Amino acid sequence: MLCIGLEGTAHTLGIGVIDSNGKIYANVRSEYVPKSGGIHPREAAQHHTNVFAATLQETLEHSNLNKRDIGLIAFSRGPGLGPCLRVTATAARTIALLLDIPLVGVNHCIAHIELGRQLSGFKDPLVVYVSGGNTIVSAYEANKYRIFGETLDIALGNMLDTFAREANLSHPGGPKIEKIAKKSSRRFISLPYSVKGMDLSFSGLLTAAVNKLKENEPLEDLCFSLQEVSFAMLTEVTERALAHTERSEVLLTGGVAANKRLQNMIQIISQEHNTSFFAVSPDLAGDNGVMIAWTGLIQFLQGDILNIKNSQILPKWSLGAVEFTRT
Ligand code: ATP
Ligand code: FE2
Repeated sequence: MLCIGLEGTAHTLGIGVIDSNGKIYANVRSEYVPKSGGIHPREAAQHHTNVFAATLQETLEHSNLNKRDIGLIAFSRGPGLGPCLRVTATAARTIALLLDIPLVGVNHCIAHIELGRQLSGFKDPLVVYVSGGNTIVSAYEANKYRIFGETLDIALGNMLDTFAREANLSHPGGPKIEKIAKKSSRRFISLPYSVKGMDLSFSGLLTAAVNKLKENEPLEDLCFSLQEVSFAMLTEVTERALAHTERSEVLLTGGVAANKRLQNMIQIISQEHNTSFFAVSPDLAGDNGVMIAWTGLIQFLQGDILNIKNSQILPKWSLGAVEFTRT
């Protein structure tokens, strides 16, 4: 069976097609980039509306399929920005009605994890999910992804993006910080390290790094140090969760998973624990429609289909609240 997935929780409109064997037919993405500052929800929604038809057309062309071949439609139901979620939900309902196919509502966080699990071939990994909106260390237990550690304030990606903005780098800042950090001669600037039990806090680190920027510390050394401290914090929590859960696989996903230094640190502790490690590739680790389509298929096979009348968006649908049966 073929499923088309619509992702639109935040900055990216993504449309993907995948079949029940995991063969990907298309992964088309269009990203809204704010002219200044962070994401403006209404502007992002306007972007998704503007590019929707062209993105769908490109998806059908890439996948080389007739729209009648598609047997299922899935959309990201939450968590995310209300105005953005409404665009893709409305489109999904319309497509479901026009093609007369079932509609499935997918949790965005589960989708990041489940596509990662499919791509890695891992059965039951410890998951490190790091993005602009989430920093979560989790493992599956009794029908839920249990959260072992998470951020108490801002997400790691958001912290990097905000620091980058202060340094006049354009959004998204994470990849730019990674590039600039490589230019550093590894001169470490001391910054606050904040792990509280199994949880993390990045706001004090952000404030301190911005202050150092204002004191004219070199940007490359600050980028290097910011990465070292924040990634070491996440690695510490991951290692503790690994020791506690005794999982034999570690899966790194979400937009920040693209970062080579972070991959390297998590890989080192994975090796020390004799654990397999997999980082999802950037085109499928960041927001995309394929992950929604794949998770939609899993839910469909469990009979989890939405009635259009009850398919309202769920902007605050957190990972810990979702009952999810894995296949
Ligand atoms: P979510 O809703 O799951 O929180 P998101 O909206 O943040 O997702 P993603 O595409 O999963 O979207 O992640 C985007 C984040 O990933 C941004 O904060 C961006 O800076 C960060 N990022 C992307 N590439 C890199 C990189 N190479 N190094 C560090 N951070 C990166
Ligand atoms: Fe995401």
